[in-house]
Amino acid sequence: MEQHGRLQLQQLKDEVRARTDIVELVSNYTRLKRSGKNWTGLCPFHDDTRPSFSVNPAGFYRCFACNEKGDVFTFVQKKEGLDFLEALQWLCRRAGIPFQPAQGGTQKSSEREEALELNRLAVAFFQDRLGKSSDARDYLAQRGILKPTQEQWQIGFAPPDWDGLTRYLERHRANLALAARIGLIRERKPAGSGYYDVFRNRLMLPIQDMVGQVIAFGGRAMSSEEAAKYINSEQSFLFDKSRTLYGLYFARRVLSNDTPPVFVEGYLDVITAHQAGFPQCVATLGTAMTEAHARILSRFNPKVIICYDADTAGIRATLRGAAVWESIGVEGAQVLVARLPAGEDPDSLLRQGDTATFQAALDHAVPRAEFEIALALERHDLQTPEGRARALEEIIPILASVPSLSDRSHYVSRILPLHPLATRSDPRRVVDQILADVERYAQQSRQAQAPRDRGYPLTQEMNGQPLRETPPPPVFQPPDRNSWGQSQWPFTENYVGRRGHTPAPGTAKQGIRNRRKQEDSTPRLHDPRPPEVTPPALTREEKAERQLLRALFTADWRTYILAHHSPDGFVTGHGRRLFELVARTPAQEDGSVDPVRLLRQIEHEEDLLEAPADDPFADEVLPPGTATEGLPAGSTPSFSSQNDSISPGQAKFSAFVRELLEESVYLTSNEQLNLQVVSSCMSILRRYRIEQALRELNAVLEAGTLPPEQRRTLLEEYRRKSQELRGIPS
Ligand code: UTP
Ligand code: MN
Repeated sequence: MEQHGRLQLQQLKDEVRARTDIVELVSNYTRLKRSGKNWTGLCPFHDDTRPSFSVNPAGFYRCFACNEKGDVFTFVQKKEGLDFLEALQWLCRRAGIPFQPAQGGTQKSSEREEALELNRLAVAFFQDRLGKSSDARDYLAQRGILKPTQEQWQIGFAPPDWDGLTRYLERHRANLALAARIGLIRERKPAGSGYYDVFRNRLMLPIQDMVGQVIAFGGRAMSSEEAAKYINSEQSFLFDKSRTLYGLYFARRVLSNDTPPVFVEGYLDVITAHQAGFPQCVATLGTAMTEAHARILSRFNPKVIICYDADTAGIRATLRGAAVWESIGVEGAQVLVARLPAGEDPDSLLRQGDTATFQAALDHAVPRAEFEIALALERHDLQTPEGRARALEEIIPILASVPSLSDRSHYVSRILPLHPLATRSDPRRVVDQILADVERYAQQSRQAQAPRDRGYPLTQEMNGQPLRETPPPPVFQPPDRNSWGQSQWPFTENYVGRRGHTPAPGTAKQGIRNRRKQEDSTPRLHDPRPPEVTPPALTREEKAERQLLRALFTADWRTYILAHHSPDGFVTGHGRRLFELVARTPAQEDGSVDPVRLLRQIEHEEDLLEAPADDPFADEVLPPGTATEGLPAGSTPSFSSQNDSISPGQAKFSAFVRELLEESVYLTSNEQLNLQVVSSCMSILRRYRIEQALRELNAVLEAGTLPPEQRRTLLEEYRRKSQELRGIPS
């Protein structure tokens, strides 16, 4: 029987594939141009600047920049935010293929169908009763919800009697036990003595899933005397509120890279906003934002605007939501906060017709960190030194949660006047001091975080997997004002050092020894132990290496780096290889090297090595019968030929290069390149190489088995290298 069901599903899938033109399908999301036998265009999955997306008319697509790939099913799943079965249904409808999940064979899906049918009956009943209740219609009129809007959202009314719906369902010979299981009615006590309605005397707001089927209801009280303002359907096999977003069925049509989703607080905010011309608004259903919500929405746009009420509860919900959003590890995930005038919510503003204020709030939405900083500033009396110090203490942890160094510096420059030394010292020096404290705090808290939160893993596929438990962040220790700015941080140290600042103990004279100690306790690059499954956080040297390599692609720095640095000064094999490769690659007219072209070339070469055929893209055909339906939502099917060739723990060269080029959430890719940054990277790397050499020499010398002549040569070399090390600014 199950065999039979699976067979039918396979046939259905084949039918959909046969009747869906993938080029036409994708063309609805991005403009494609023919290029050979494939079609190419800007990638609809990331912010593409040049056409990296390739569609094979045989039914597959791939982006050479972001590596999204798959078939019509995964495409629809991703772009429409559906699970496999929903995508299948979506495509069936589109291709005019009758889709009968009941025939699909499983007990479960026929029950689901039956439950959805019950909800359809309930919607019809509530809508009918709305027509008969002048109270309910008056209420809607007073809330400014127009007739077409009521119809669009299938708004209805549950009459005050105890069994209106129950009797209606009975008349339609509905399965009452099932109706009770999905929370429409409830069984009377004792069991067996019938059912009664759950929703009474309430405005009924059906909750649609992503394909528009009603899976639950929200019932709003008609007067403020009711104990509960809202009654929502209980969780059921139809309705999981942690994955459902009110309004998404209508919002998803407009969500795109240009239009981020907007979170508002309540049902009526969503409805009023859509009616007023803001169809990108959605709301959670009486719950906090969950990871599932964030994941589902991030498929449309990794950026999101939160526009909650300006009260304490709203602020708390905003920050909690932002934390969830930022923890899902999706590339480019960003939370902006829109602030409404005190006391207003979207519903109240828009009902008065004040679309301009709402629009302005969305236009001026600020990044989450900026919002938090503004709150901290508002909380303290900035006229007093104490107030300023308090505010700064609160702001440092906020800045530490900002991954981009250039964003951090930007914020620091704006809060500079808070610092006690602001008026007395060189402002650039104060900026560095604050940045050093921020970095110290960031490092403290990073140690308490799961690898995912430290910015790993960076691949979309791995990010699709569930998050690990995250330990609570460390308790913030306000920096001791006497030691501000003395943290060990590459750029600061360098900068302050040159200005004759006396380094704190442990940073200069003892520096090397200290660093060595640290290195011994953390797994190093050349650790002979088998690599961990999750890559360790990048070391300082690896970060510097990546920064320098990124600079190597730019017209400004390419020649300088090639003249001042050698392949020897890299700490990873991949790093050295990329340096040599970029050095060999002729620059373009503007003096830069095109990273995307280089990456494609690398990928092409790897594909050639791996795949027996010579057209890499033609090989990206899913083996017939590949089960995509078993995959968790959000994951892409991976092509076995690729996976087999990756030995565990050893990233491919192309993966290294892509990771380095892509906006890394964790590092310094946004950092403005200047001489200080570039030369600091170079000296970090040179230091590391020399220290490494010294360690090796030291080991040989300490073994003490050398003939005196050789020993002297080595000692001489040791001395030379130590001297060289002293010459490199640290
Ligand atoms: P609000 O109290 O702000 O309601 O709760 P609202 O939707 O804006 O309604 P109006 O404008 O006052 O009529 C925000 C959301 O919290 C959930 C609902 O999802 C609501 O839309 N909620 C609130 C409940 O689930 N139960 C409640 O009792 C209250
Ligand atoms: Mn509200």
